[in-house]
Amino acid sequence: MITYHADHKIFNLSTKNTSYVFGEADGRLFHLHWGKKFDNPFNFMSYLADYQYAAFCANTEEGYCLEPMPLEFSTFGNPDLRQPSLHIRYENGSTDSVFKYESHRIFDGKPGLKGLPATYVEDDSEAQTLEIKLTDEMTNISVYLLYSVYPELDVITRSMRVENNGKETVKILRAMSATMDFVEDGYELIHLHGNHMMERQVDRVKVTKADVSIGSVRGASSHRHNPFMALVKPETTETQGDAYGFNFVYSGNFLAGVSPNIYRGFRAQMGIHPFNSGWVLEPGADFQAPEVVLTYSPSGLGQMSRNFHKLYRTRMCRGKFRDTERPILINNWEATYFGFNEEKLLAMAEKASKAGIELFVMDDGWFGKRDDDKSSLGDWTVDLNKLPHGLDHLGKELNKLGMKFGIWFEPEMISEVSNLYEAHPDWALQVPGRYKNMGRTQYILDLSRQDVCDYIVDAINNVIGSANIEYVKWDFNRNMTNVWSALLDSEKQTEVYHRYMLGLYDVLERITSANPDVLFESCSGGGGRFDPGMLYYMPQVWTSDNTCAIDRQKIQYGTSFAYPVVTMGAHVSDVPNGTVKTTPLQTRAFLAMNGTYGYEFDITKFDDDYLGRLKMYNEMFKKLRHTIHTGDFYRLYSPFETDFASWQYISEDKEQAILFVFANATSHARHTYFIRALDLDPDAIYVEDGTGKEYTGDYLMNIGHMLTSTQEYGNACWVYNKKH
Ligand code: DGJ
Repeated sequence: MITYHADHKIFNLSTKNTSYVFGEADGRLFHLHWGKKFDNPFNFMSYLADYQYAAFCANTEEGYCLEPMPLEFSTFGNPDLRQPSLHIRYENGSTDSVFKYESHRIFDGKPGLKGLPATYVEDDSEAQTLEIKLTDEMTNISVYLLYSVYPELDVITRSMRVENNGKETVKILRAMSATMDFVEDGYELIHLHGNHMMERQVDRVKVTKADVSIGSVRGASSHRHNPFMALVKPETTETQGDAYGFNFVYSGNFLAGVSPNIYRGFRAQMGIHPFNSGWVLEPGADFQAPEVVLTYSPSGLGQMSRNFHKLYRTRMCRGKFRDTERPILINNWEATYFGFNEEKLLAMAEKASKAGIELFVMDDGWFGKRDDDKSSLGDWTVDLNKLPHGLDHLGKELNKLGMKFGIWFEPEMISEVSNLYEAHPDWALQVPGRYKNMGRTQYILDLSRQDVCDYIVDAINNVIGSANIEYVKWDFNRNMTNVWSALLDSEKQTEVYHRYMLGLYDVLERITSANPDVLFESCSGGGGRFDPGMLYYMPQVWTSDNTCAIDRQKIQYGTSFAYPVVTMGAHVSDVPNGTVKTTPLQTRAFLAMNGTYGYEFDITKFDDDYLGRLKMYNEMFKKLRHTIHTGDFYRLYSPFETDFASWQYISEDKEQAILFVFANATSHARHTYFIRALDLDPDAIYVEDGTGKEYTGDYLMNIGHMLTSTQEYGNACWVYNKKH
């Protein structure tokens, strides 16, 4: 897995299909290769000699320029003038550092990262870790670069820890978790951008001679950009070509992107956004930067995504619901908004249970005096006007109907109109003397404070413990402004964004570990915090408030670049409504089946015929969900490039394949498209569910099905089981 070739001072990190290679010379780390398998160490200094000179670049003390050279780690000005991995301000105001290799160790397994979510192992044989220690001799500050290799999953993770063993208090101005220099041009960068209601749209831009970056300074990973990027070649498709995937295991401010080198190539980086950020590091203290997940696929974007999916399903998500099928739910939000009571909820639940729905989720409005979004956040006590018999009773009634009980919280928020705000106005993030900016009539609690975190843990655990609650939706409905904390001195105010995330992760760890049987779903006004950090605590995420079956094709397609289908909250809504274009029930149901599957409408208004159809879709989903939730996912046609979307699953045992296709326009041109499967066994016979027709894998992969305009509304789900 990890080999150190002492003769050439080369580290070779190899997975089943890929290698990541770098070397050490004069104490510096030079990036040599990330890509196809590479097994032969060499004298890389002779190779690097070609890079050594560039006009207008100062020399190292050894006499060569660093700026044209491919580095693995960099500090600013000594003498590299590119964006650094680490930038530290010392007491005298200087920001030059020189970190040199001191030692390394290689060990089995993968350590956790203090206070942060990260991929993990269950057995030390699953991964190997390389820790490299670099030290700045003058200040006695050390950097530990951590690389873990998951050979079977074709994944390498990186992170960095800075330790102050010196005498002065310093400030970390920038700490990028991963830096690496690509030596060639001709790449393209794929990223996922969006906004509320249209999250994770796929964008592919050329990397030429301008910096290209994405990021967030909103206090959340955000709807605007996702902490994911892929570097690909122009010829890279779903099934061929180089695809380098980067994903940041963090839910707050981030920066990711590339900046071109002076001659050829570019530097790729990912880490906490340095804007408005700085961490004071006292003597004896350390700072842990979050993890970056890296995966390289020589065979296109599809394999890159499957590598992320498998890792996240099995070694990012945790607990009882890891890598398992998820229950079908009904949520009352779009059915009732704030206007519900016990009677209404139970009437919905009764019909839902008859239709085969398994979990009832009571959304926003059950607590305090919350009849609209203007009050009560922070007051986590049941509103007896709406639920006169309390939560325990409601849970028992739902259980009698054969349904599980789920509940909504927005724990990180505080309404001005609330008992909590009356008692603790200082708990809201705010800048003294300045207008406090409201977002959705609410403020954000200062989770950099221990007392605030403790309050949230107690309040939420109390509610969960008060009834048989088996599901929690954890919402977060605005981004951060007025970022200042009453308990920190002025120099440390630049720590608040990150301290908030550490507080949030601590709260989530305490609440999820106290409630191991509860299924948690993360949400942020839809998908404003869909990132690997959240998946560590909550194995599913509400993908978007937009449940329109047309728009969702793009949203879910884009989300699948990094995140597994089993993590995507997807519901059937009523049509038409504020957000949903009118589409047939089948279209909405088939689309939502490509996610956790659930409903968001007032089921009480439907007649028996309609309920019968819902029951049929629920039965269909229950038969398919094992493959959808635990199988391998393949994108076949992009809704960004054609007027329909298509994708496919193969079960882990390779016995079943499921293909979905969705038209997203009325174009009649669609009938000329053939839907061809991927990765089937060419010689096996596959039996089509429903028709009993038999096809060879070869046929399904190379001839395929024509998407005819006679198919109802242009959508279809084909299920194939291998014949034995
Ligand atoms: C935003 C979420 O995305 C919705 O699903 C719903 O839970 C509302 N918040 C409730 O306020």
